[in-house]
Amino acid sequence: MSKGTFYITTPIYYPSSSLHIGHTYCTVAADAMARYKRMQGYEVMFLTGTDEHGQKIEEKARAAGVAPQEFVDRIVAGIKDLWKLMNVSYDRFIRTTDGYHVESVQRIFKAMYEKGDIYKGAYRGLYCTPCESFWTESQLRDGKCPDCGREVKYAEEEAYFFRASKYAARVRELLAAGELLEPASRVNEMINNFIDCEGGLQDLCVSRTSFTWGIPVDFDPGHVVYVWLDALFNYTTALGFLNGKYGDYEKFWPADVHFVGKEIVRFHAVYWPAFLMSMGMPLPKKIYGHGWLLLDGGKMSKSVGNVVDPAILAGRYGVDALRYFLLREFPFGSDGNFSNEALIARINADLANDLGNLLSRSTAMVEKYFGGALPPRPDAAGGEEELVLAARGLRDRYEALMEKYAFQQALQEVFRVISRANKYIDETAPWALARDEANRPRLAAVLYNLLETLRICGVLLSPFMPESCAEIKRRIGASDAAFTWDSAAVWGALGSGAQVAKGANIFPRLDMKKELEELEGLNPTRPAAPAEPAAPESAAEAPGPISLEEFKKADIRVARVLSCQRVPKADKLLLLELDAGGRTRRVVSGIAEWYRPEELTGKKLLMVYNLAPAKLRGIVSEGMILAASDGGAARVVFVDESIPAGSRLS
Ligand code: MSP
Repeated sequence: MSKGTFYITTPIYYPSSSLHIGHTYCTVAADAMARYKRMQGYEVMFLTGTDEHGQKIEEKARAAGVAPQEFVDRIVAGIKDLWKLMNVSYDRFIRTTDGYHVESVQRIFKAMYEKGDIYKGAYRGLYCTPCESFWTESQLRDGKCPDCGREVKYAEEEAYFFRASKYAARVRELLAAGELLEPASRVNEMINNFIDCEGGLQDLCVSRTSFTWGIPVDFDPGHVVYVWLDALFNYTTALGFLNGKYGDYEKFWPADVHFVGKEIVRFHAVYWPAFLMSMGMPLPKKIYGHGWLLLDGGKMSKSVGNVVDPAILAGRYGVDALRYFLLREFPFGSDGNFSNEALIARINADLANDLGNLLSRSTAMVEKYFGGALPPRPDAAGGEEELVLAARGLRDRYEALMEKYAFQQALQEVFRVISRANKYIDETAPWALARDEANRPRLAAVLYNLLETLRICGVLLSPFMPESCAEIKRRIGASDAAFTWDSAAVWGALGSGAQVAKGANIFPRLDMKKELEELEGLNPTRPAAPAEPAAPESAAEAPGPISLEEFKKADIRVARVLSCQRVPKADKLLLLELDAGGRTRRVVSGIAEWYRPEELTGKKLLMVYNLAPAKLRGIVSEGMILAASDGGAARVVFVDESIPAGSRLS
């Protein structure tokens, strides 16, 4: 029986280039929450998607030499692949270019206009192009955009405005009541900076005429809807609000929680409630403003280029290990510093030493002493041992923390019990008990308690590490019924006699030094050995014969050029963003003498996919594109459009 509904959302991401570990962080957190709620028996709607309109995207597409829709289509395909890789169980994916969303936003805009909450005026002010925001002089920080720190320029245009001022008092009251926005520390910041500031909450400019990549205002062509008004309503249009696509609005709205990064709390906690008030719609129950993952103390950003690629880390260490690290290492509400050292140390300490070891040791002992069959349940259903008491109360402690989105602490609680269990093995010394037949009931009880602890911990870790916990379930021989939320509150749910499967540690220990060295070449913040791009081989210098085995080592794949640009201050180099079947790779190639960027954009070519990364002019090149030359101009080997990106050459 359903316990009710639970609606959770991530921000919708800009498909301006592929996403990095910072975006992955928020989506994985929402996924863990969605899985946790499903496990509890809620009917969950987990929404994510992409925010595809606006000047920034239009400019990016122009630079890439393709139409905006084509540009975003390619990037969105890569984003969906990333979520698949990260095992993100979203229920719905909205794109703001979807027809039903466009239709709803036009109706919403018109309704606000007819109500008098949107009016026509002229905008004169300081505009930040990357952020698509107008600012007043007093809002600037050191004369620059307060959000991104970049230059602003004077701009003037006829525009529609939303009467935010009309709702200022109600929004203020709502924020001050303290229910809507968490962490609480962000509440005062919102009130002081945007409502109680000089001049109060200003009306918001909600249309643009300087570009066309947006939702047209249907009653005034030439205007497109401001990207934030368009984007925020995704949370309701994705349920079918004012469109015929879905019929879930009544069922799921208002949202239980919107997860958003701290820099977009302003839009969600001030303007979003005001928009909803204008439309007479219920307000979301919670907005959670999480912190940023920083790299060397600064924000990871696509435009700065200091990003960490989640696909590389998940590929090396496993999706579950990465998911766990992200949610265990950093407190959700605050900023955290990402480092490879922290990742490897966390995997070794918690997953390899504690959890992985406990599982392999416990199952190996059941195999050795009981032929692999689960020992009988002790009479006293576990007794009053410290381990048993800790594991028994674990679900409730975990639940209280999960309800506060305190993922780090919830995981800490589980791992405290796992550590306790490892200590329990040392204290009870099953190998010593096994020497005397008289101790057999005690030996059985000890092993039973270990497996039972693993069962409870496995259930509670499932939202974070779904695949690994399915493996824990299999190895301890738990039935489906013994691996549920309800069963996690019960001690003694494992039935005796079930078959246990022993096996190697599910999280092998990593060699810190070796990993750091290897990651060094992949991590753009660290200098790697400089390398010049190899000039295409000429026929005269052809090497001698190689075996088929040697040839097979080269992973050559078909890739589509998503974008291409010149590398500043390097006459010979082009920087290409390639889609090799969902994975975006950046490759620096020495062919700028022979090709202009627009000649390559959109084309399909061949790339060496497993070439060790190298840093060129400060950019990490993750592969090589194939070109042929007889000693003169290099010609890129283009491939037929019908061959899908990602196909391997053989
Ligand atoms: N399109 C808007 C959101 C509209 S929601 C109606 C947007 N997109 S974004 O792609 O720039 O960012 C999406 C989210 O990713 C934001 O919540 C942002 O905080 C988050 N992150 C981007 N970089 C991040 C880190 N380095 N660390 C954590 N989160 C970060 O804003």
